[in-house]
Amino acid sequence: MEPVTEHSLAADGLAVGYDQREIIHDLSVRIPTGKITVIVGANACGKSTLLKTLARLLKPSRGTVLLDGKSIQQIPTREVATKLGLLPQSPAAPEGITVADLVGRGRYPRTRWIRQWSKEDDEAVAAAMTSTDVLSIADRPIDELSGGQRQRVWIAMALAQETDILLLDEPTTFLDLTHQFEVLDLLVDLNKSESRTIVLVLHDLNQACRFGDHLIAMKNGEIVAEGDPRKVISEEVVEEVFGLAVKVIPDPVAGSPMVVPIGRHTTRTSPAANGTAAAALAASAAADGVCRPIDR
Ligand SMILES: Nc1ncnc2c1ncn2[C@@H]1O[C@H](COP(=O)(O)OP(=O)(O)OP(=O)(O)O)[C@@H](O)[C@H]1O
Ligand SMILES: [Mg+2]
Repeated sequence: MEPVTEHSLAADGLAVGYDQREIIHDLSVRIPTGKITVIVGANACGKSTLLKTLARLLKPSRGTVLLDGKSIQQIPTREVATKLGLLPQSPAAPEGITVADLVGRGRYPRTRWIRQWSKEDDEAVAAAMTSTDVLSIADRPIDELSGGQRQRVWIAMALAQETDILLLDEPTTFLDLTHQFEVLDLLVDLNKSESRTIVLVLHDLNQACRFGDHLIAMKNGEIVAEGDPRKVISEEVVEEVFGLAVKVIPDPVAGSPMVVPIGRHTTRTSPAANGTAAAALAASAAADGVCRPIDR
C-alpha cells in the first residue's frame, strides 16, 4: 500500500449548470481533510452536480474547485485521478466486462507504459474485492449481477484506485441493510486507519448522522446548513430542507440524532403499548450500553 499523503479539497464561488439552466449559483465549501462528510438533501437539489464538479467531471461557469490549493482545471487528469476518486450515482460499464476487469480499471491511473501492471496492482484489486465481498463473483460479467452485487463491484473499483480523497454518490443504493452497514463501516475503517477524506451522498438521515463527522444539507443548489450532525440536524432543519414533519430523538445505539418521520397516515400506538415498546427499547439499549454484533 502506498503511503497516503494528505490532500485538501475546497470550492470557491461555484456556479454550475446544464445548458442554459444553472443549478448551483454561488457555492463555497471546504471539505474537512481526513474526515467523513455526508451530503444530504431532497431529490434534484444538486448533490450529484456538486460532487461531479468537485471531481472535475463538470466544469463550473464561475468559481473554482481547489485540490491542494490549486485550481483542479490546471491539474492533469491522471494526477487528479491518483488523488481523488469518484463513484458516480449511475456508473456505466463496458458491455460484457467481468467483475475483476472492472475493479482492475480502478488501477489505470497508476499504470503507464513505463510502469506495467504489477503485484501491487493485483494486491490492491484483491483487497478491494475482499472488503466489498465480491471475490466469489470475480469472473462473472457485470451485466448478469443483481443491483446490489453490481453496486459493490463499483465500490470495489473506487477503492482499488487507492485515492486519498474518495467521493461516493449514494454508495448504499440497492444494498440490503447488512451490506449497507458493511460498506459504511468499511468507509469508517478506511477513514480511521488511513486518514482518507471521504465525501458521500446519502438519503438515509440516520445513517448520515451516525457515520458523518461533518454534514452538509443542500436545498435548491445551496448549502443551507453544515457542521457536526448533532448540531445540524433538528426538526426545524429537516422541515426546511425536506419539507417533512419529523421528530428527532437520540439514536438508542449511537446517541446521534435519529429522525422519525411523522407522516399523514401514521397509526399511533396506544399509550400503554407505546410505553411497553419504549421500555423494551430502553432496556435493550441499557443492557450493556451497546448493541452486541452478531457473529457471522
Ligand atoms: N445531465 C443533465 N442534463 C440536464 N440537467 C441535469 C443533468 N443532470 C442533472 N440535471 C438537473 O440538475 C438538477 C440537479 O440534479 P442532481 O442530479 O444534481 O440532483 P441530486 O440532488 O443529486 O438528486 P437525487 O437525489 O435525485 O440524486 C435537477 O433538476 C436535474 O434534472
Ligand atoms: Mg444525485
